[in-house]
Amino acid sequence: MVVVMVPEATQEEIDGVVGLVRAAGGEAFVSRGVSRTIVGLVGDVNDFEALNLSSRSGVLQVMRVSAPYKLVSREHHATRSVIRVGGVPIGPDTLSVIAGPCAVETPEQTLAAVLMAKQAGASLLRGGAFKPRTSPYSYQGLGERGLKILADVREETGLPVVTEVIDPGSVDMVASYADMLQVGARNMQNFALLQAVGRAGKPVLLKRGFSATIEEWLSAAEYIAQRGNLDIVLCERGIRTFETATRNTLDISAVPVVQRLSHLPVIVDPSHSGGRRDLVVPLTRAAIAAGADGVIIDIHPEPKTARCDGDQALIESDLREVADAVTILSP
Ligand code: E4P
Ligand code: PEP
Repeated sequence: MVVVMVPEATQEEIDGVVGLVRAAGGEAFVSRGVSRTIVGLVGDVNDFEALNLSSRSGVLQVMRVSAPYKLVSREHHATRSVIRVGGVPIGPDTLSVIAGPCAVETPEQTLAAVLMAKQAGASLLRGGAFKPRTSPYSYQGLGERGLKILADVREETGLPVVTEVIDPGSVDMVASYADMLQVGARNMQNFALLQAVGRAGKPVLLKRGFSATIEEWLSAAEYIAQRGNLDIVLCERGIRTFETATRNTLDISAVPVVQRLSHLPVIVDPSHSGGRRDLVVPLTRAAIAAGADGVIIDIHPEPKTARCDGDQALIESDLREVADAVTILSP
C-alpha cells in the first residue's frame, strides 16, 4: 500500500501517518521526490485500511498497488519521471549519452576517453574506479585514486561523473566524488548495497542483472526507492541466453516493457550487451529506436592496452556515427 501526500504536506502530517502505521504494527518508508512525498507501507493491508488514512490532513491518496514494486511502478505515478544528474536531465523527451572508459587506468587515459566521449555527444561521463571482475586476478580498478581522477576530469570537461560502487561500506566515500552511483549487473540483488545507495542522497543507475527478470529488476529498484531515493535510472545491459555470438543478448523489448511498468527512465548499454565494438553503433540505434532515454558507452583511446573490456571499447573513428545516431534519431 502507498500513501501519496499532497505536495505541501507538512513534516508533522507525514510523521502522523508514519506514527499511525507503526502503532498498527506496520513499517512506513518515506520517499521524497521533486514534486511530492510518498509513504510506502509494509505490513497487513487490512490493518492499514482500518486506519482510514485517506481522511487525514496532508494525505492526497491511499493506493493498493498490486505489483511487488510500488514506489517505482507506473500504477501509482502515471507520468514518466525525469531524473537530474549534476543538472543533466534523463527521462522522456531527452536522450542522454553517458560515455567514457570502462575502467579508470591513468589520468591521461581517462581524460582522453572523456574528450572522445564529448565528440560522441556525451553529456555525462562514465568510468569505473571499483571494477567487479569475474576473476580475482583481473584488474580491480584504482579505488579512491580512480575517483580522484574522475573528479579532476569532471573539473576539466564539465561532465558529471557516473561511477560504480560495489560494497555498502564504501557508498558514502564514492558518493563524495560521484554525481551518480552505479550499481552493476553483478550487484543488482545485493540488498544491503541497494539500501545503502537508497540513503546516499545521490541519483542511482541500476543495471539489470544478467539473469534477472524485469520483475526482479524493478523489485531491486524498489529497495532503493523504499529508503527514500526515487532518483533512479534503469539500465538494460543484456541478459544471459543460449546465444554465444555476443557477450550477452540485448533484451531490447525490456525498454518499452519497463517504460510501461515503471515511471523511471530506462537507458541501454550497447557495450556490455554485445561485448563487441562493431555492434555498439547498431545497438545504439536500436536502443534509440525502441525509445530508450539514453545510452551508456565504453570508449578507450587505445583499446589494445585496455585493462578491462577492450574488445567493446569505441575508438576515434566510431564517434561520428554515435553522434549522428543521437542527433538524427533523438526524440
Ligand atoms: C566491466 O565493466 C566489468 O567489470 C566487466 O565486464 C567484468 O567482466 P569480466 O571480469 O568477466 O571480464
Ligand atoms: C560497467 O558498466 O562498468 C559494468 C561493470 O557493467 P555491468 O555491471 O553491466 O556488467
